[in-house]
Amino acid sequence: EIFSDSQKASLAVANRIKDLILAKQKANEKFVLGLATGSTPTKVYEELVRMHKEENLSFQNVVTFNLDEYFPMQPDSLQSYVRFMNEYLFDHIDIDRNNVHIPDGTLAMEDVSKFCQDYEEKIKGFGGLDMQILGIGRTGHIGFNEPGSMANSRTRLITLDQITRTDAASDFFGEEFVPRRAITMGVGTIMAAKEIIMMAWGEGKARIIKETVEGSISDSVPATYLQNHDNAKVILDDAAAADL
Ligand code: GLP
Repeated sequence: EIFSDSQKASLAVANRIKDLILAKQKANEKFVLGLATGSTPTKVYEELVRMHKEENLSFQNVVTFNLDEYFPMQPDSLQSYVRFMNEYLFDHIDIDRNNVHIPDGTLAMEDVSKFCQDYEEKIKGFGGLDMQILGIGRTGHIGFNEPGSMANSRTRLITLDQITRTDAASDFFGEEFVPRRAITMGVGTIMAAKEIIMMAWGEGKARIIKETVEGSISDSVPATYLQNHDNAKVILDDAAAADL
């Protein structure tokens, strides 16, 4: 779906999320939402905060699981995805903090694999992700599933691609300060979501979006796996759609 600008596109995504939250509220059920970081989803979070403040949209029945976190990473660091989510969303809505889940960048190495298994179990315990929202990295990563990630991969520690570390360099004031690893939901974790919305804005994403939508399905561009999902949507602004 192509919109003239990212503001209109983000409003459409936020409206879809709102509709699902309200439908689940009516049914007295929880809405299990997979969240992404990066610049791409920030306008969606701004719209959701606005809906909370102006339209009394409540998040009390919402359970969230974030895609990924750098490893190692302290939650109060400038670049932490915990901090990001608090600043853009959680500090401004009525979500129960017990319902918020973000991969833990503070773990000792020997505790990571158990943490990742537990993360998967928690998602399953809530009946799976009702919706996962995604951005896309220049390598075609979803979450931090870099090229080479398998279709059946699950939450795990991965090594970041060099291109991803270069792209993150400005956030860390130098490439040498970008962590080499991250904890990410796997491709299989993401693909198990009942609905997936990928967003991309701007001409910088046009090439990788063309590969994602029109290229053959391959681990060299993990986002192409989404072609196999029967309820996945790619939401673009004109610039990101320019090469299609
Ligand atoms: C990071 C995140 C991804 C995100 C990507 C793109 O690598 N882990 O989830 O999709 O950045 O970032 P941006 O949205 O800023 O373009």
